[in-house]
Amino acid sequence: MKCKFSISFVLNFFLLTALLPKYVFAQGEIISIETKNHALVLNVTGKKDLNTIYLGKKLANKEEYAAISSAYKQTEDYTEILNSAYTPSGSRNLVEPAITATHADGNNSLDLRYIKHEIKTLKPGVSLTKIYLKDPVYPFEVSLFYKTYFNEDVVEQWTEISHKEKGLVTLHKYASANLHIKRNDFWLRQFYGDWAKEMQAEESKITHGIKTLDSKLGTRANLFQPPVFMVSFNKPATETEGEVLFGSLQWSGNFRTDLELDHQDNLRIISGINNFASPYALKANEVFTTPVFMYTFSAEGKGLASRNLHNWAREYKLLDGNGERLTLLNNWEATYFDFDEKILKDLLKSTKKLGVDLFLLDDGWFANKYPRNGDVAGLGDWQENKKKLPNGISSLVTEATANGVKFGIWIEPEMVNPKSELYEKNPDWVIKQPQREEHYFRNQLVLDLSNPKVQDFVFGVVDGLFTKNPELAYIKWDCNAVIYNAHSAYLKNQSHLYIEYVRGLYKVLEKIRTKYPKVPIMLCSGGGGRVDYAALQYFTEFWPSDNTDPLERIFIQWENSYFYPAISSANHVTDWGKQPIKFRTDVAMMGKLGFDIVIDHLKENDLKFAQQSVKNYDAVKHIIWKGDQYRLSHPKKDDVAAMLFVSKDKASALLCNYLVNNRYGAGSKFPVKLEGLDPNKKYKLTETNLYPETKSATDESKVYSGDFLMKVGFNPQVNKDRASVILKIEAQ
Ligand code: DGJ
Repeated sequence: MKCKFSISFVLNFFLLTALLPKYVFAQGEIISIETKNHALVLNVTGKKDLNTIYLGKKLANKEEYAAISSAYKQTEDYTEILNSAYTPSGSRNLVEPAITATHADGNNSLDLRYIKHEIKTLKPGVSLTKIYLKDPVYPFEVSLFYKTYFNEDVVEQWTEISHKEKGLVTLHKYASANLHIKRNDFWLRQFYGDWAKEMQAEESKITHGIKTLDSKLGTRANLFQPPVFMVSFNKPATETEGEVLFGSLQWSGNFRTDLELDHQDNLRIISGINNFASPYALKANEVFTTPVFMYTFSAEGKGLASRNLHNWAREYKLLDGNGERLTLLNNWEATYFDFDEKILKDLLKSTKKLGVDLFLLDDGWFANKYPRNGDVAGLGDWQENKKKLPNGISSLVTEATANGVKFGIWIEPEMVNPKSELYEKNPDWVIKQPQREEHYFRNQLVLDLSNPKVQDFVFGVVDGLFTKNPELAYIKWDCNAVIYNAHSAYLKNQSHLYIEYVRGLYKVLEKIRTKYPKVPIMLCSGGGGRVDYAALQYFTEFWPSDNTDPLERIFIQWENSYFYPAISSANHVTDWGKQPIKFRTDVAMMGKLGFDIVIDHLKENDLKFAQQSVKNYDAVKHIIWKGDQYRLSHPKKDDVAAMLFVSKDKASALLCNYLVNNRYGAGSKFPVKLEGLDPNKKYKLTETNLYPETKSATDESKVYSGDFLMKVGFNPQVNKDRASVILKIEAQ
C-alpha cells in the first residue's frame, strides 16, 4: 500500500512542530473564566468560532488550558462548533441551538464569530467577562456575559442580542447559557411535584438525546417542575464526594433547560426562557437581554456546592440575605376566611402570649360588593371588608403595637376573581382569550401585567397599604393562578405575553423595592411554586409548600436546602400531620420559624413548650440563618434525618435530628458524624426544645473534641419515644 505522506512532508511537519510554541494544538486565544476552585475555559478558533474546551477544577498553570483539547480523541466534529459557547442555528450547526433567528429579509441562518472580549472587576471578588460575537453576513450581534463570584465558586451567565437590520428580526430561541462538558457519564438529579408535593427528587443517568426540564405556567416557574437541577459528572455525587454542577435559570416564568448528550458523548446544557409560544420580534437597535442562568461547580460533593450557593445567595442575591427575620403567628389555618375584628384582636393577644415577633393576617380581609368569605369572590377588591373590619386595618396595626407585636398582611395582587368589582370595571385587564370560555385556577384569572396600567394598579395595592399603615411590618405575596388562554388585550404581539408578564412583574417589584427597600416580603405561590433567584432579589423568604405535615416537610425542606439558604425558607408549625407539637416545631426550626395554629386551643404543656421553643429558637436562629449547613444523614436513606448548622467561627452549632421511619426498632443505631467543626476545639452538647417534664437522654456533662465528633460522631439517641432531638453544640 502506498504511503499517504511523502518523506519531505513528514520532515517538514516535525521541523515545524518543533519550532512552534509549546501548546501546538490550541489555535487562537484562550479565555478562562475562573473562580477560586473552578474554571470555564473558552477557545477562539482560527475561524473565530468561540468554543468551550473545559469546565472543571481550575489548573495551577493557566497556560496549560491550551493543551486540554489535544488530550481528547473523540469522534469527529463535522461542524467545528459542536462545543460552541453559544450555538447558532441555520448555518453549520447540527445539534440543539442556543439561538435561532429569522432575519428581516426572511433568511434563517445565523453564524456568530468572536470579535473581542473585556474583563472588568466589579467589586472585590466579583468580575465580569463580556464577549462580543457577530454574524459575518448580517448586522446581528450577541454579547455573552460571565459574572464570577470568586470565593463562592458561582458563575452567572446571560446574553444580550441586538441587530441593525432593516425591519424586525424574529428570535425563535434565545438561551441564556450554553455549557459544554466532557466526562465519562452524567447523572441528572431533577425535581418534580404538584401542589403540596413540591421538590420530589429523582436521579437518572443521562442518555443520548435531549432531556428537557421546563415549565409553561406563565406566572410561576414551578408547580410541576422547578428550574433548579444538579448534574453529577462520572458518578452520582454524594454530600462529600464527586464532581457536581448545580444550575438554575433566574426567571419567574416559563423556563426551559435542555440537557443534550451528543454523539461525541459530551453534555450540552442550554438554559433560558422557554421559547414555547414566544417568538420574539426584535426591533433594530433594541437589546434583548436574557435572564441570568447561574451555576456552581464543586469537586467535593453536593454539600460544598450548596454551602457555596447559600453564601452567594446571602451575600449577593436574596433580599437582606445577611439581615434579620421575624418569627410570626399566621391566622390562615387557624381561621381561614372566618374571622372578624374581635377574633383578630384575640389572635394579637395570642401572638404576644406565644412570644413571636409578628402577627400575619392572611386571606379574607377585603372586598365589600363581593366579600372575600371564600376563594370564589372578592379577589382584586383591596378595600377592607367593612363587616369584618369596621375599623379597618389601621386599628389592627394600632392594637398590634399596643400588644408589643408587629403586624403583617396577605395579598395576592396579580390575580382576580371574575366575581369582583375589579373585573367588572376592567375586563380588559385580565389575561383571557376574547372568544373562548374562561378557565379558572382556584377560581381566579391572572391580571395582565404587560399593561402599564395594571402594573400601576399592583404597585398601588402595596403602596396604598403602606401609605395608610406606615407601621405595617410584613407582607405575604401570594400567587395561586397560572395563565390559561394566554392573550393580552393590551399587547399587539401576543407571542410576547409570557415574557412581558414577567418583565411587568419585575418592574412592579423594582418600584416597590425602590420605595420600601427592606420590609420583609414572603414569596408565596399556593405553596412553593414560585421560588427562583430572580424573584428572591425582591423577597426575604419563600413558602416551600402548603404541605406542613412535618414528615412531608422534612423532605421538601431538605431538597430545597440544596439550593436556598435556611434563612429564606419560611416554615410554619400547623395542625397538619399526626405528630406532637414538639416534632412539628423541631422541623419548622430548620428554617425561619412561624406558627399557624390556634394558641388558645393548646393544652397547658403544649403551650409551655411552644412558648419556650420560641425563646430557644431566638437563641440559636443566627446559627441556622447565617451558618454553614451540612446534611449528615439523608431522610430517604436512613431512619433518621440529621441536619447540622455550624456558625462561621465554628464556636457553636445546632444538630437537628428527626425520625423518618416508623418501623419497629427504627432509630439512630449509629453515631451521626459531624462536619465543619474545629478538630482542635472542645465541644459540649446540650439538648434544647425539650418537652415539659421530659429529660434529655444526653449526658450533658461530657466534653468532646471536634476531632472525635467528626471522626466517630455523636448518637442523638433518636427512637420512637424521642422522635426529634435538637442539640446545641458549643465550644468550651
Ligand atoms: C395559598 C397559600 O399558600 C396559603 O398559605 C394561604 O395564604 C392561602 N393561599 C390563602 O388563600
